[in-house]
Amino acid sequence: MSRDLWEREYVTHSISSSTNTRPSHGADFLRRHLPSIARVAGPPRLLDLGCGGGRNAAVLAETGLAIVGMDFAHRPLLAARTRLGPGPARLVQASMKASLPFRTGAFSLVTAFTSLENVTEDDRLRALGREVRRVLCPGGLFFAYFLTPEDGYYLPLIDRDRDGRNLTFDPVTDLRQRVYQVAELSALFAPSFTLVASDRFDFPDVRSGGVHQRRLATALWQRRPGADGPA
Ligand SMILES: C[S@@+](CC[C@H](N)C(=O)[O-])C[C@H]1O[C@@H](n2cnc3c(N)ncnc32)[C@H](O)[C@@H]1O
Repeated sequence: MSRDLWEREYVTHSISSSTNTRPSHGADFLRRHLPSIARVAGPPRLLDLGCGGGRNAAVLAETGLAIVGMDFAHRPLLAARTRLGPGPARLVQASMKASLPFRTGAFSLVTAFTSLENVTEDDRLRALGREVRRVLCPGGLFFAYFLTPEDGYYLPLIDRDRDGRNLTFDPVTDLRQRVYQVAELSALFAPSFTLVASDRFDFPDVRSGGVHQRRLATALWQRRPGADGPA
């Protein structure tokens, strides 16, 4: 089960995000979009999906929004609690593959830093998009930082399926994941969100004893008004 694999990862630390204390490149992008975030007139609360050890939380706090971190693994949440201190940040253990345990319209911003890769099936991703839309206020923003098929570590691990999905199996972590293009994710989220900005990040990185040229992308989507919920 992937939750056990993630619990193990937070002991073995083979992925940089499980040991890195610096915020990810995605956080730089988010910082540039703080004015758009500030314009959302909604509840002053942010949800970070797959928050891990909470290394992006300091940057997220700059948005001025109260932080709720969610992860399905227990071990990283303990680390996040230590990192965030006894302050107001709330941490919740729950899966992105189920209904989100939050009320409708509770957040102005939902973020996912290298966690959407774990939702590999189109239907589950569409369902997650609907859930994220539900917990966002009207005009709310959804941000993701994610691995792309051109990423130098994952490229040789890609097993493209008949439907063109770039699935990966990493023999170091035993994790099955999926890498995405911005357009692919935007199409899956299209009923719930409109893309407002995106970017690409290329950088060298040491992983599993080798240096790899990484390529990740960011996307910022805005909640679409619609008939299935608040406008
Ligand atoms: C690569 S780590 C990123 C952690 C953190 N966002 C960061 O940037 O440091 C992916 C995180 O997603 C979590 N995760 C994986 N699948 C999940 C799921 N179905 N529901 C909730 N969290 C999940 C893992 O436990 C892990 O903490």
